[in-house]
This record gives sequence, C-alpha cells and structure tokens, in this order.
Amino acid sequence: DQARQIQETLAEFRLSKSQLLEVKKRMRVEIERGLKKESHKEATVKMLPTFVRSTPDGTENGDFLALDLGGTNFRVLLVKIRSGKRRTVEMHNKIYAIPIEVMQGTGEELFDHIVHCISDFLDYMGMKSARLPLGFTFSFPCHQTSLDAGILVTWTKGFKATDCEGEDVVELLRDAIKRKEIEEPEFELDVVAIVNDTVGTMMTCAYEEPTCEVGLIAGTGSNACYMEEVKNIEIVEGTEGRMCVNMEWGAFGDNGCLDDIRTKYDQAVDENSLNEGKQRYEKMCSGMYLGEIVRQILIDLTKRGFLFRGQISETLKTRGIFETKFLSQIESDRLALLQVRAILQQLGLDSTCDDSIIVKEVCGTVSRRAAQICGAGMAAVVDKIRENRGLDHLDITVGVDGTLYKLHPHFSRIFHQTVKELAPKCDVNFLLSEDGSGKGAALITAVGCRQRELEA
Ligand code: BG6
Ligand code: GLC
Repeated sequence: DQARQIQETLAEFRLSKSQLLEVKKRMRVEIERGLKKESHKEATVKMLPTFVRSTPDGTENGDFLALDLGGTNFRVLLVKIRSGKRRTVEMHNKIYAIPIEVMQGTGEELFDHIVHCISDFLDYMGMKSARLPLGFTFSFPCHQTSLDAGILVTWTKGFKATDCEGEDVVELLRDAIKRKEIEEPEFELDVVAIVNDTVGTMMTCAYEEPTCEVGLIAGTGSNACYMEEVKNIEIVEGTEGRMCVNMEWGAFGDNGCLDDIRTKYDQAVDENSLNEGKQRYEKMCSGMYLGEIVRQILIDLTKRGFLFRGQISETLKTRGIFETKFLSQIESDRLALLQVRAILQQLGLDSTCDDSIIVKEVCGTVSRRAAQICGAGMAAVVDKIRENRGLDHLDITVGVDGTLYKLHPHFSRIFHQTVKELAPKCDVNFLLSEDGSGKGAALITAVGCRQRELEA
C-alpha cells in the first residue's frame, strides 16, 4: 500500500505521448505570439532578435576577449581566430568565482567585479595594454536593438543584482570599464557584441558544422535559439534573409498554459525561488531546479512516513542540496545501491536500503520528465524551421551545451528520443559544444568589427 501511494505520487510526473504532443503544440503557439508585432509585448516566450544574421563562414579573423557570465562558471577568455585555408582557433581562459553577495548585491558591484576579473586576466596573460575588441556572453534575456546594445529584461537563475533590469548591460559594462580607467589609465576595452549563451553555442558548433542553425542550453537554465526568417520576426525591419532569435523559452508557461501538468511540487519550487511565477518551464527542466523538485517530493514522502523513518532532517530542509552532479551520480547505472546510500550519507541523509531505492526512483522520474518536456520544446522548434522552408523533410544540426546535458547519465538520450518521436519529419543531429560559448561570442565579435569598418 505504501508502494502504491508512492507510485501515485510519481504518476503525475509520467507524461503520455499525447500530453507531450500537447506541450509541443503549445510551445508553437507561444513562438508565434512572440514573433508577431501585435502580441510580442505580452508574449511569455519573448523570441528576442539577436542581430546575428548568419553563421560563421571561415573568414573571421583576429584576437578577441570574451566574457562568459551566467552559467556555472564565470570565465574570461582570449580567443585568437585565424581565417584562410588552415583556419585555427586558439583559446586561453581563466575561471573566476562570483560570490553570492555579488550576484545579489548592487549592479555596480557586479560590473566592477567583472572588470576586476578582466584586468586580472590581462595581467595573467601579460597583455595589460592590449586594446582588444570584446564579446560579452551574457546568459540572460536582453532586448537587443543592435549587436552591441541589450536591455536586461529580467534576471533569471541565481542572479538578482539591483539597478540592472531595464538597463543596457553593455553600457553598465562600459561604465565599469571607465571607472577602472581612472585607476589604471592604460586599461581600455571595446565592447563590440552582447551574446546569449545559446547563440554563442550555436555559433561555436556552426564553425565546425555549417548545418548547425539551432542552439540549446540544458544547464543551470534552459533555453534555445535558432535561425528564423527575418520576414517572420515582425519587430525587425526588412524581409530578406534570416536572423538568430533567442527564444527565452524558460518563461514558457508563465501565462498558465502548462498548469495542467505542473504538480504541487513544481509550485513549491517556484514559491521558494528568487523569481516566483517566472521561468516556469525552466523550473521543470533545468539543472538549477531539478534537485529542488526532488527535495520537495522527498520532504512530502518523509512527512507521510514513507522515507527516512519519517524524520525530516535539517539537510532535507536545505535549499539546493541536490546539485546536478549529485543527481547524475545517484542515477548512474554503474552505481550499486550501497553507493547511492553513501552519496546520501555524504549529503547528511541517513538512509536505509529501501530509502535509497525510492530516492533513486524519484530522481529518475523527475529527470525523465525534464528531458521529455525539453524534447517537446525542441520538436516544436525544428518543425517550425521545416515549415518555414516548405520542406517535407528537414536535416538539421543542433549545437548543445550545459552541465545537465553533459553530466547526466540519461537526460540526453531521453531528450533525443523524444525529439525523434515528436518531430518524425526531421532528422536532428546533436553536436556537443566542446568549447562553451566564448568561441562563438568571439566569432560574432569578429563579424561586428568587420561591420563597423564597413560603416566607418
Ligand atoms: C557553457 C557556456 O559551456 O555552458 C556558458 O560557455 C553557458 O556560457 C553554459 O552558460 C551553460 O551551462 P551551465 O550548466 O554551466 O549553466
Ligand atoms: C536562462 C536565461 C537564458 C539562458 C539560459 C541558459 O533561461 O534566461 O538567457 O540562455 O538560462 O543559460
């Protein structure tokens, strides 16, 4: 009977094919809303223009700095791109910590910290006085009006610095650079492009594989971008060619359209978050929140006396204990149950053998749903591209990055399977980005520099 009640609890997370097709259909509706002039302002899936009009063609050339902010790691990079017959890309990078006080402090502190890290990196590379063009991978929703202007719509994930929402983050970065110049007059940088991580990832992969016209992040957050026909992006002038659109699909469901599949555990995760009511789809399928859903279920099962001898420990009450890497370990098929128990022990959860079986099943159920609804979103995107091009069959490559996709033992497989099932007219090839999105940001910066020269 206890087993039956546990299964009933988990049944809500097990979506049928028709439910997943419904998710795909609703994503398509929200995509259209975001693209249309009369509805884009209220749209939840914002479909933000990026002013990136083509994927790399191999003629990109030069030395660039790149910043990569918004994922697990904050990095500063030097990227040297050489065009020609034997194209090469050489990268150097350093990871810097962003303390939680800075993530959630004032905007000025955040941007001063970023510039401090750039300055340290240039010292470290021994190139303090180099005046390099900079590409800024900034993995948050931005309203762009050009390659080098982006107004932060809203913070997502773990960030909440004050006085940034509604501001142009390129200007905030330039202001911080100016403050630094007062201290160190030789410090000069030229911010050329602001880039979402999905777009950077697509460009990184497209440099190797020209059929790559979609970017996906399944990491701390969840999001996608793709090459849309300019004529369909009604807020962008012109009718010719394509432009990459940053979908910001994490906000899918913020108008209530996923309420029938959201569980009370999803609601609890939302209520406990920094941005209640926002990014509801992301909260069901990205690394920052999967562990929280698991924790909410475990708390409930414990309260009902099915787990941990009915004792809710302090650990279980702690936000964020189940990071992606722990979920990935717990779900690894190579681990014996004894090792699952050892992991729980490490986290401070005293478990019996039965407990660890249940915990593993809870984790598996939550991550399977995540991979499936993420796959349903992607199926909507590739089918849209297929229809845009009037094709019965589409071959396309998706560039992918993110810790959930890379580390989790089952996420990518279930995700691929779902895309295949829900978009049978598309042959989708998934390409893992080995270099993150900094390389893509540098490629976009190269194009930006060339455009400036042409305009000058
Ligand atoms: C990295 C990119 O490789 O993937 C980042 O360079 C991006 O810009 C990240 O944000 C996404 O993954 P995660 O799991 O670190 O959020
Ligand atoms: C969040 C951000 C989005 C980013 C994604 C993946 O959803 O809003 O811009 O692409 O996380 O990092």
